[in-house]
Order: sequence, then structure tokens, then C-alpha cells
Amino acid sequence: MANPSLLILPGDGIGPEVMAQVRRVIDWFGANKDLVFDVSEDLVGGAAYDKHGTPLHDDTMAKAQEVDAVLLGAVGGPKYDDLDFAVKPERGLLRLRKEMDLFSNLRPAQCFDALADFSSLKKDVVAGLDIMIVRELTSGVYFGEPRGIHKEGNERVGVNTQRYTESEIARVARSAFELAKRRGNKVCSMEKANVMESGILWRDVVQEIHDAEYPEVELSHMYADNGAMQLVRAPKQFDVIVTDNLFGDVLSDCAAMLTGSLGMLPSASLGLPMGNGRPKALYEPVHGSAPDITGQGKANPIACILSFAMALRYSFDEGANADLLEGAVQKVLADGVRTADLMGPEGGTPVSTGEMGDAILAALD
Ligand code: NAI
Ligand code: MG
Repeated sequence: MANPSLLILPGDGIGPEVMAQVRRVIDWFGANKDLVFDVSEDLVGGAAYDKHGTPLHDDTMAKAQEVDAVLLGAVGGPKYDDLDFAVKPERGLLRLRKEMDLFSNLRPAQCFDALADFSSLKKDVVAGLDIMIVRELTSGVYFGEPRGIHKEGNERVGVNTQRYTESEIARVARSAFELAKRRGNKVCSMEKANVMESGILWRDVVQEIHDAEYPEVELSHMYADNGAMQLVRAPKQFDVIVTDNLFGDVLSDCAAMLTGSLGMLPSASLGLPMGNGRPKALYEPVHGSAPDITGQGKANPIACILSFAMALRYSFDEGANADLLEGAVQKVLADGVRTADLMGPEGGTPVSTGEMGDAILAALD
């Protein structure tokens, strides 16, 4: 069988710095676990604009459609802030998500024991937390028509439209139920069916998919505003949360911060299964290109390394290897190894990006 294929797009700012550490991890799995990837690397964002005048070259887009998974660092930076909208670095990322039709965005919120003190919440509220937010990513109010700003009489009116089709809801619901089967077997669906028709349809379709295809998974429904309260009050009641694009944007950021630093947060964006049964997939850290620390060896590579762990789990069905890699990260944190973003009030000496990579490789060994 052919080796699984990975397209690596380091991007801008700290993207290449954190991705360099992921490359070492990938090489470790090749050398020690017989898990050899066909890795190709290309440009995205400002780096692609500098070379090609576009934030994503057509050849790169075509390559992304062919590979088993894409791993992206980060895009953007002050150098590109004044570019036209159409060629801004972010457009490269948006094009990838859109053309690969990555409708299911997975954002884990996991509390590493060693960092429980780091949370803004009480330690016992977050210790052991492990939840997954599934956000619909390609429809809803960010895309619905009509939209725009127009004049009515003497004043301006801003319009956006929340619109969901049954099939759009059904596919993201399936993605959440499939995930739940591999985790705690529990899904909570969040909308505002009390005030939005699209929310009524959302609730109905999620329930229908559940009853017809996943009756063994425990399903509950919650209004999204209550969901926000519950997330900060008692987040451990949840396993998988599935919600629309707008609520998911807000709730996933809220859930993410339960557990600490942006430098720790991975994500996955999945589409429909390809011919080989694997979903189209893009993995990336949640953080951006961090221009304030670029080139200083301060970036925490863990978010990007954990994004690769998600790739192992969801694209390559390598749950054991994903566990191994996540375990290595746990160990390193428990040993007190910290990049600057993870330094608590008690202080200490932070390690560099490369030293964090060294420690994780040592823990893997
Ligand atoms: P950012 O995530 O780049 O940085 C926010 C803060 O977190 C900064 O102080 C940064 O130093 C810190 N930080 C982020 N990642 C870190 C890491 N791995 N280790 C240690 N510290 C880390 O967000 P910001 O500053 O709003 O945006 C900077 C640029 O990144 C902008 O051009 C923005 O458009 C772009 N961006 C790109 C994203 C992507 O590629 N998906 C997402 C968010 C922003
Ligand atoms: Mg957001």
C-alpha cells in the first residue's frame, strides 16, 4: 500500500517555526513506528503572495485536494495588512476550507493536568476536562443571502441571513455522532430554537439523524445562551457539542480558553469522505502568525504538534499513535517544561521552541 500523504503549508510568522518541530515528530514516527508519510511542502498566505502574487497558488490547491491530509501553520502578518482583500493571506486559508468543503470544524478543549492552575476557572472545575466542539463551518449566517448594507429612508440597514438546509445540518450532525462513538458517546446540540426557525430545523434534523442512525448515542439539546453559561459553570458535563457556524465560533473560543494558552490549541476541519474512506481534512493550530514573537524562538509548538496528533487520530486511524503523542506532551508538561506563554506567576526559565521539540521527542523515546 502507498504511504499516507501529507501536504505541509507552514505559512507565515511563527508558522514555519512551529512546523519545523512537527517535521521532527513526523520523522520520529517514520523512524520508530514504521509510519512513513509522503510529505510535500508548499506555500500559503503571505509567503505564497510574495512568490506568486496570490495567497494560494492553483497548483497548491490541486495538491491539497489530492493528499490524505493538509497540515497548516498560520497565515498573515503586518507586512500584508494593506493588501487588497482578494489577495490577503487569510484568503488562502478560506479558499482551502471552501474548495475542500470542510464543513465540520473540530475544536477540542482539553485540560492538561499540569496546566489546571493556568485556567481562569477553579482547578476542580477544569481538571480532567476533555470536550470537543463541532462547529458547522461552511454555511449559516456568515454565508447566507441576502446580505449587505442598504439604505432605508434616512438610515442604513445591515443585513445578514441565517440559512441552513437539511442536508447541511445532517452532515455535521453525523460528524458529531461519529466522533461521540469514539469518545464518551454523548452529544449536546446547541441552537436557539426558542427564537429562530433555523434553530427549530436544526433541532429537528439532529434528532432525526440520531433516531434513525445513532440511537445508541446519548443526545440532548440546549439553547446556546444556556450552553455558554454551562460551559463556564460545569464544562465537564459535556462530551461532544455540535452547533452552527456563529454559535460555534463564539462557544469554541470560550471553551478553548477554559484550558489556558492559545499556544496549546489544535483544530481539525473535516469534509466528506474521499474514495479511500478518509475525510478531506485540514489540521491547524488555532493561533495566528504571532508577529510579536516571530523569529525569537519563543513560539509554543504544542498547538501545531497536537494538530498533527489529531491528523493521526482522524485521518490515519492511528489512535494508538495519537495517544502516544498526546501522552508525550502530557509528560513534558508534567515535568515542568514550559515555553514563555505557559509561564505562571511563580516564574521560572522558559524553554525555546526547539527545546520544547527536544523534550517532546525525548518523551516519545
Ligand atoms: P495570534 O494568535 O497570532 O497571537 C495572539 C497572541 O498570542 C500574541 O501575543 C502571540 O504572541 C500569542 N501566541 C499565539 N500563538 C502562540 C504560540 N504558538 N506560542 C506562544 N504564543 C503565541 O493572533 P493575532 O495577534 O490576533 O494575529 C496575528 C496575525 O495572525 C494576523 O495577521 C492575523 O490575521 C493572523 N491570524 C491567522 C490565523 C490563522 O492562520 N488561522 C488565526 C488568527 C490570526
Ligand atoms: Mg473566533
